[in-house]
Amino acid sequence: MVNQPLTGLVGWRGMVGSVLLDRMQAEGDFGLIEPMFFSTSNAGGAAPAMAKSEAKLFDAYDLAALKRCEIIITAQGGDYTKKVYPELRSAGWKGYWIDAAKTLRMQDDAIIILDPVNLDVIRGALKRGVRDYIGGNCTVSCMLMGVGALFKADLVEWMSCTTYQAASGGGAQHMRELLTQYGTLHAEVRDLLHDPASAILEIDRQVVARQRALGDDEIANFGVPLGGSLIPWIDADRGDGTSLEEWKGGAETNKILGRGTGFGSAGSGQGTALPSVPIDSLCVRVGAMRCHSQALTIKLKKDVPLADIEGLIANDNAWVKLVPNTREASVRQLTPVAVTGTMDIPVGRLRKMALGPTYLGAFTIGDQLLWGAAEPLRRMLRILLEA
Ligand code: HSE
Repeated sequence: MVNQPLTGLVGWRGMVGSVLLDRMQAEGDFGLIEPMFFSTSNAGGAAPAMAKSEAKLFDAYDLAALKRCEIIITAQGGDYTKKVYPELRSAGWKGYWIDAAKTLRMQDDAIIILDPVNLDVIRGALKRGVRDYIGGNCTVSCMLMGVGALFKADLVEWMSCTTYQAASGGGAQHMRELLTQYGTLHAEVRDLLHDPASAILEIDRQVVARQRALGDDEIANFGVPLGGSLIPWIDADRGDGTSLEEWKGGAETNKILGRGTGFGSAGSGQGTALPSVPIDSLCVRVGAMRCHSQALTIKLKKDVPLADIEGLIANDNAWVKLVPNTREASVRQLTPVAVTGTMDIPVGRLRKMALGPTYLGAFTIGDQLLWGAAEPLRRMLRILLEA
């Protein structure tokens, strides 16, 4: 790719976009591109400090301005992609589209990007002239960064996941709502809490009464209370007993790996599709801020010694961190509090289950705004720049 390609950035002010910009700055990405900053609301305003020759904000709906870009990276969201992407392609734009939104993810000619796991799939697609590179579902990306090694070694017969997903997966307003609910509940019982002689069951009664009485404005984003509770459903109801988030676990994992009908030949470029791996999930929203956690039950194709499994996982990529399966290590290293804001993907609670020697239990966590959203986008930019 030419030096300093014109690279459009859309949606850089939002939550994922801000994390993306931070990471791009930290890794020196702006030294390698000529950025063009787009805005849906402030065209003509001043671009942020990283701008070089293009110091003004461009209108994010201006097709002529977008068409100038060799690469567009968007974290603006699905509605923007739905509107602008087809218009831009119809207008003859041949550039690379790197997108955080799910809109294009499952299209045949789009690649889900997670290069520490599927660099071969990405390289094969680049060779074939594929131009759309889409970030994966955050839960899937974080899970594969943790235990992708077992899929690469073709050891997984099937997998079952139970997720513990943070408020940030819903968006910035959801995080605010969660914290506000915690504050409201605390305020309800503050005086009783300060009185060491008060009865805990009275505190509990008042908290649950307040939770049940939260007004529409207090649950506007989640629809039900999350602070001090959980929500065992994420995203749309598919009508078959599963949620859309749960469906993505299987569909996207296999697509990222280039497995299964349609994905194998498209993904690897080798024409031979490995069968898809059955993956079933139960996705749950919990009161964490921005780290998604997952408990995994993995059915192995054969009885592999635990030490070998640990070795495979630990050596898979630079970010995965094996956490010893002890109480002390687990409670300190395997939590959203420990992982938030870091690139680490800890994997712990690894053990053979009572179900038998081919059943592996594991627990893994990732910051859903980093590996789950922003990081694969900027890494795709680097792959294009090096191509
Ligand atoms: N769908 C995810 C969630 C977020 O709600 O947590 C992004 O993939």
